[in-house]
Amino acid sequence: MKPQVICIANQKGGVGKTTTAVNLAAGLALLGAETLLIDLDPQANATSGLGLDPRAERRGLYHALIGMGDIDDLRRPVPDVPRLSVLPSNSDLFGAEVELVDAIAREFRLKEALERMTARPRFVLIDCPPSLGLLTVNALTASDSVLVPLQCEYYALEGLSQLMQTIQLIQRRLNPNLTLEAILLTMFDQRNNLSHLVAADARQHFGDKVLDVEIPRNVRLSESPSHGKSIHHYDRASRGAHAYRRVAELLIERHAPDLARSQVS
Ligand SMILES: Nc1ncnc2c1ncn2[C@@H]1O[C@H](COP(=O)(O)OP(=O)(O)OP(=O)(O)O)[C@@H](O)[C@H]1O
Ligand SMILES: [Mg+2]
Repeated sequence: MKPQVICIANQKGGVGKTTTAVNLAAGLALLGAETLLIDLDPQANATSGLGLDPRAERRGLYHALIGMGDIDDLRRPVPDVPRLSVLPSNSDLFGAEVELVDAIAREFRLKEALERMTARPRFVLIDCPPSLGLLTVNALTASDSVLVPLQCEYYALEGLSQLMQTIQLIQRRLNPNLTLEAILLTMFDQRNNLSHLVAADARQHFGDKVLDVEIPRNVRLSESPSHGKSIHHYDRASRGAHAYRRVAELLIERHAPDLARSQVS
């Protein structure tokens, strides 16, 4: 069975991409879905947030992109999270964007690496860097769908039109099958009127593409990466853990309904 490949993208910095990638990936694994998280950001926050040391990872995604390794060998199991593995990033990836500029089929490097993979996870999540450069283009080209975290703050929707144009361009030129998985409101503050305004605005523009579940602003979510743990392991009773678990359940219902049924029984 082919995995559902979902990239988590927004060229705006600090909107909750990595927090979403890490906690959704761990949530999917906990719900029974074999999951691979690809850390496509040279900042390597997803790698370190799951307890791996990017400086110790001498080989990783970079080597898969330049054709010097296979994902099967490069992925690492995540400590204490059965069914979750990560394709780590490290600072080599900073050079990849420049090095790949003249490469043949440079936009298809990640897609080809995924096609070579013999492991068969149910989900592949890709944590994108905050840009629309070649790395993000590789992610969009390799993906079935894109999940867009939208931070509930002023100017949140600015820049989204650029992202939507990029998605349309990729659909036309590189990946006709790409769909918009959803828009996920992040850092939602129930008591802040602005959060409600941004949510209403997003729903007006994007209708039911905006998930009903909002990720609350929750300090436990910001603490967990420094412990190298997902929120489900750091504080599973927190509001942040609940919200990400609900989004993971929704993805399982959509893309792996056989697992959803086995949860019920
Ligand atoms: N729901 C939340 N509640 C509280 N803090 C959050 C929440 N989501 C993210 N944060 C914090 O906000 C900061 C930015 O989040 P994150 O790193 O996930 O964003 P990003 O989009 O991946 O950033 P970048 O664009 O730099 O890759 C981090 O310090 C993170 O811990
Ligand atoms: Mg990030």
